[in-house]
Amino acid sequence: MAKAKTQFICQNCGTVHSRWAGKCDGCGEWNTIVEEDPMGGIGSGPGKAPKKGRPVTLTSLSGEIEEAPRIPTGMGELDRATGGGFVRGSAVLIGGDPGIGKSTLLMQAAAALARRGHRVIYVSGEEAVAQVRLRAQRLGAADTDVLLAAETNVEDILATISEGKRPDLVIIDSIQTLWSDTADSAPGTVTQVRTGVQAMIRYAKQTGATMVLVGHVTKEGQIAGPRVVEHMVDAVLYFEGDRGHHYRILRTVKNRFGPTDEIGVFEMSDKGLREVANPSELFLGERNEKAPGAAVFAGMEGTRPVLVEVQALVAATSLGTPRRAVVGWDSSRLAMILAVLEAHCGIRLGQHDVYLNVAGGYRISEPAADMAIASALVSSLAGIALPADCVYFGEVSLSGAVRPVAHTAQRLKEAEKLGFSAAVLPAASPDLPKGSAGKWREVDSLPDLVARIAGSRLKAPTGQEDG
Ligand code: TYD
Ligand code: MG
Repeated sequence: MAKAKTQFICQNCGTVHSRWAGKCDGCGEWNTIVEEDPMGGIGSGPGKAPKKGRPVTLTSLSGEIEEAPRIPTGMGELDRATGGGFVRGSAVLIGGDPGIGKSTLLMQAAAALARRGHRVIYVSGEEAVAQVRLRAQRLGAADTDVLLAAETNVEDILATISEGKRPDLVIIDSIQTLWSDTADSAPGTVTQVRTGVQAMIRYAKQTGATMVLVGHVTKEGQIAGPRVVEHMVDAVLYFEGDRGHHYRILRTVKNRFGPTDEIGVFEMSDKGLREVANPSELFLGERNEKAPGAAVFAGMEGTRPVLVEVQALVAATSLGTPRRAVVGWDSSRLAMILAVLEAHCGIRLGQHDVYLNVAGGYRISEPAADMAIASALVSSLAGIALPADCVYFGEVSLSGAVRPVAHTAQRLKEAEKLGFSAAVLPAASPDLPKGSAGKWREVDSLPDLVARIAGSRLKAPTGQEDG
């Protein structure tokens, strides 16, 4: 092996540099490059005798499984997102835009747990005690036994929470304000955040207390600071929502102790967050059933069906390059649907602007929305309103075929529950309920769907449609 050389490694993305720099070219982060000795650490180089290890007992995959001990908050939507309550001894990261309601959510959770007799400590690094008290008053949580501290120093926080009886839950709001004496970089830097989070996680593992960490999100939608924080914790939840709308979604993106596709839905009111047990009613609240271009999508969020309206506006363009604007859906997925409509259904959209919006500021991530989107587009282009009592779902493939999606029965059940008596869905859907009252229209291809919605109206070979 060649002569040992020190390396400079970015602590955020792992890029190896030959010399120190203020900014990493790999990820663009500042102050993340640290000198490391490649001969040190794991698998140390020749010359150093490896430490003699202690053998551990090997075991089998079968055997008794211990259920992770949980502390449910009693807030149904929060417990759903965490998979049944906070797991003792685990670290949970809650990310979200500033002002979205993270502190509000956690203060409510803290109060709920304190009411159930748990010892909860709320450490605020961003707001002074008076501010936190004011919020607690507004939320009707001021009379609970939540213990409060305004502190940002990691060592001081650890000393505080280690004193007295072990807490059941510790909330750190937020990790970006943490700073430690042991890391010699400025507060808020990647190294500081990482050191602070590491110390908090170690405390959780050692004592069995649950550690809830709040993290702000950057413009790119990631938790500010190192990505590695997400790898270090046991669960990552994102609190999302549009500032212009009242509802908020708590989305699980990582969970070592439960499912990752669950969401909790809340509504922000003047007295804090209110749980929304039936999100479909919220997203269908302000429907105009006679307007062309609106289709109701029967979607799924984890184990829960969610009905949401998608709105399309297809209008003749005055620009050289027509506009494509999407809110709440994937824009490349829209481009794909438009291409399939052009190639297989003879619908020309080159002279049309296309705008697509998912109602209520909701975000759809399922490919099953393809059919609803296509229906909304065709409806807007043809100027024909879709039947008000019909839902749409199904995946569209590039060949123009429509493919079945999972959970057909559940989607239809939710639709029926909310008064939708018809559905347009893929042919050969596997778990189609037999003998139910609804009218299920099976379509096997996108041209079939277009013909059903617009008849021969869009079939003009010259491509002259009215919008
Ligand atoms: P906050 O929890 O401070 O957000 P974060 O911690 O994510 O930065 O909440 C911020 C917003 O919520 C603020 O703009 C005011 C609003 N809000 C209400 O509408 N009702 C309430 O009862 C509370 C406490 C806050
Ligand atoms: Mg806050």
